[in-house]
Amino acid sequence: MSHYDWWEKWMDRKHRYAKTEQVFMDEGLFNAKSVGTGLPSIYQQSTFSFQNVEDGRSRFLGVSPSGEKPFARIYTRLGNPTTEYLEKIMFQLECQHIIDNALAADEKEPTIGVMVTSSGMGAISTCIMSLLSSGDEVIVGTVYGCTDSLFRHMDEKYGVKAHFIDTSNLEKVAETLEQHPKIRAIYVETPENPTLKLNDIRGLSKLTEQHEIPLIADNTFCSPYLQQPYRLGADIVIHSMTKYVNGHSTSVAGIMLGPWDFMLNHAFVFYKDLGATPSPFDSWLNAQNVQDLAVRQKHQCTSAEKIARFLDTHPMVSKTIYPFLDSHPQHQLAKRQMRMGGAMISFELKGGYDAAVKLMNYFARHDTPMELAVSLGSVITYIQHPASMTHGGVPEDEKKRMGITEELVRISVGLEGTDVLINALEKGIRLAHA
Ligand SMILES: Cc1ncc(COP(=O)(O)O)c(C=O)c1O
Repeated sequence: MSHYDWWEKWMDRKHRYAKTEQVFMDEGLFNAKSVGTGLPSIYQQSTFSFQNVEDGRSRFLGVSPSGEKPFARIYTRLGNPTTEYLEKIMFQLECQHIIDNALAADEKEPTIGVMVTSSGMGAISTCIMSLLSSGDEVIVGTVYGCTDSLFRHMDEKYGVKAHFIDTSNLEKVAETLEQHPKIRAIYVETPENPTLKLNDIRGLSKLTEQHEIPLIADNTFCSPYLQQPYRLGADIVIHSMTKYVNGHSTSVAGIMLGPWDFMLNHAFVFYKDLGATPSPFDSWLNAQNVQDLAVRQKHQCTSAEKIARFLDTHPMVSKTIYPFLDSHPQHQLAKRQMRMGGAMISFELKGGYDAAVKLMNYFARHDTPMELAVSLGSVITYIQHPASMTHGGVPEDEKKRMGITEELVRISVGLEGTDVLINALEKGIRLAHA
């Protein structure tokens, strides 16, 4: 029997509505759903007046006579109508097939719940703190620096032990699950940051289902345009919307989607208590920016694939990592679970640390088309050095295990144009070796 009271009901819904043979949502439908039906007003207010005592009482009980989200009309830390609009759009992009399947089966209860948060870390911390308790254990793949540090703090301060392992190795995952019966969840990113190693969502979900524990997938590097983890078997899906959904580096936001009963009775409780609530303006901005998500991301991916091919044959580059390159050890898996190869490229420059630093400093100049910055997913191309920046706080032996070398460079490809970026990289790499 599962440790989670919501598990059995979710398994029934998951197998009937969520897991599908078809891996991606039709692109035309994706665009139509992203554009939506017109942005709402910005409800720039902290509180909402009730019509009478009965109205206030029902909203606190989670009842709403007109069908809108009751918690989005009480006090903005609990929810807000502008944020609710964004939640609906993102929900459709990740889960339209679940909505369609549930409607066709005349399902009366909601299957998935959704919450937009003030940052990706807001979604991750709300998820982890509401899911795991002291004494529980969790398997964690190679993850973003702050996610890694959150799991280490959960271990040190709250007694939730994290097993950091290579989650792309299904045998290793199976063995760890067998050895540690208190493991209550698996948390992965795919592709992983910054090594672009993939995790097989279908394969992992078979293991998590055997052990009756949820598989949490951070879908930040893909966005729902490239990968829809529910179709592949994930149970909880998280994004930093700061990245591809916003796409213009104008706000920080996150989102979490999960089984309805878990979201209502556990995650929502922590969401309101921790206070990771987005501002209505940021939700409005993200609801606008998501309208052209697919168009932007398609262009970025096309450009990134060409840049990856350029780097792959460059004499000064010792290794290029890009999921759709034949040289990527998991490119078959990438083609199975990702619509395109993504807009992230990692590569190792010959010349080690010194050459990597020179390349970074070249792009720190204002006359180059990239920015030396650590975010990703923007229309602006960013270049960064994980060993000293995003993963600077990760212990040395862990960095080594993850494959984060001194010469590893990460690029997030934007919309400046393929030729402009290739020419700049050529010049930067030549200067780095001068
Ligand atoms: C994969 C991934 N997940 C989560 C986060 C955290 O998101 P945020 O910065 O929006 O809190 C990041 C940030 O870079 C990330 O790369």
